[in-house]
Order: sequence, then structure tokens, then C-alpha cells
Amino acid sequence: MNTTPAIRLTGAGCRFGHHQALSGVDLIVHEGERVALLGASGAGKSTLLSLLNGSIPATDGVVEVFGQDLAGLSSGRLRALQRTIGTVSQRLDLIEQVRVLHNVNAGRLGSWSLLRAVGSLVWPRPDDQIRSALHRVGMEWALHERTERLSGGERQRVAIARLLVQSPGLILADEPVSSLDPTRATETLDLLRAPAEKATLMVSLHQPELARKHCTRAIGLREGSLVFDVPIAELTDALLGDLYALT
Ligand SMILES: Nc1ncnc2c1ncn2[C@@H]1O[C@H](COP(=O)(O)OP(=O)(O)OP(=O)(O)O)[C@@H](O)[C@H]1O
Ligand SMILES: [Mg+2]
Repeated sequence: MNTTPAIRLTGAGCRFGHHQALSGVDLIVHEGERVALLGASGAGKSTLLSLLNGSIPATDGVVEVFGQDLAGLSSGRLRALQRTIGTVSQRLDLIEQVRVLHNVNAGRLGSWSLLRAVGSLVWPRPDDQIRSALHRVGMEWALHERTERLSGGERQRVAIARLLVQSPGLILADEPVSSLDPTRATETLDLLRAPAEKATLMVSLHQPELARKHCTRAIGLREGSLVFDVPIAELTDALLGDLYALT
């Protein structure tokens, strides 16, 4: 049995200038867990997700993903690891001026040869994989739409479709349903479980009821520190009250 955790943080922290955005985070997440990341605005949720996908280096402690210490990896090995990590960032990181097809196609370029990837960047093929991903997010109609014309919720769904074609082992999703109506939000969180049955999910959410419905575990961040880490059944209103209380 493979016991290497998907994620292991040991005393992990991140400082921006004089501001300590995250400090002393110890966390182990095993394959297949679905972890809700909760906390008020500015608590450090996006920073934590950025440490995990290697887009920001930790300034303290150790960040390991699938047993690999990110700080010790060459840029080539880091890129290879990043291909197995699917990120839906809070900004979505879609290319605005191109068609939806191009943005969804971008999810699979990392697993292709350079030649095939470059060719497909210029002329992506709307094949079954892309159509099916768009169909699953209810956006098949938008295949040839220009991305900049879409609403906020539609763009979030395109970002999820891009993730579906990447089929990552670890999914890091930063408020992926913030612009969606309640029905779409539930559907979309269901989809985040779908790319691979054993995929590990860490998702930041501002709605505890969605965490209860879709996740197996909840962690709470407050002013950059981990203040609770509980199985989802133990996510009480009291914990949430403390988490969001104004200081
Ligand atoms: N690149 C950066 N440079 C300087 N400060 C930053 C940077 N990124 C984040 N911070 C600061 O770090 C703290 C944590 O920010 P972060 O974006 O992780 O919060 P968050 O929990 O994701 O909040 P939200 O719910 O509003 O998205 C904030 O005080 C923020 O201003
Ligand atoms: Mg954030």
C-alpha cells in the first residue's frame, strides 16, 4: 500500500516583506481526502494553495507533494510535478482573447510532446475529450465563444473543464464556486471529485454548508495559522464562529 501522503507541510510559512501571511503550518493529507480550506478574507488560503502548487516558494519549513520536497526540485522536475497538480486559481488564469476551446485545450498540453503541444496551441482540435469536459460543466455550447464574453460563473466552469482534461492527481481549487448559483456550485464541486476517483482535493470555500456536503475534512486558517483540522462531521458552528469572529 502506498502510504506517501499527497501533501505534507512541516512548519510551513510564507512571508511577503514584513507581512507573515502564513506561519507554522503542519499538515498531512492522504490520497483521496477532500479537504475544505476555510477562513476569513486575508487568512492565507490562497497563499497556502500557492505554496502547494509551487507557484510561491515557502519562506519557512518544508512543503512536500507526493513525497517530493518542492524546494529541492530542479525547475524541470518541479514542472513535471506541477503537471500532476490541477489548479483552479481565484483569478482563474484564463486567456481572455481566445476561444473557450483554446483554454480547455491548455489543460492537456503538459502531457503532450512539445511539437504536438505547440501545434495544438495554434490549432486546437475540438475532439471528444474537450467536448465531453465542456458538456460536464454545461458549457458545450461555448466551445467557439471568445472567453472574454463569458460571465463570471461561465468562466469558472471553463476553468473546471480545463482541469477535467488535465486529470490531475491533486486538485487545488481556490474559491472555484464563488460566482455560481447554488445548484451550479453543488454540481461543480461534484465534478471536482470526478477527474480521478483517488484524486486528492483541497478547496477553499466561503460556504461551510458546501464544505459539509462535499468534503471529508475541514481545516481553518486564521491570520496565517492553522486553528483547527477536523473530520467534516466535527465542523461545528462554534468552530466557525471563532474562525470568522472579527478581532
Ligand atoms: N503577493 C503578495 N504580496 C504581498 N502580500 C500578499 C501577497 N499575497 C498575499 N498577500 C497578503 O497575505 C495575506 C493572505 O492573503 P491570501 O490571499 O492568502 O488570503 P485569502 O485567505 O486567500 O483571502 P481571500 O478570502 O480574500 O481570497 C493577506 O494579508 C494578503 O494581503
Ligand atoms: Mg484567496
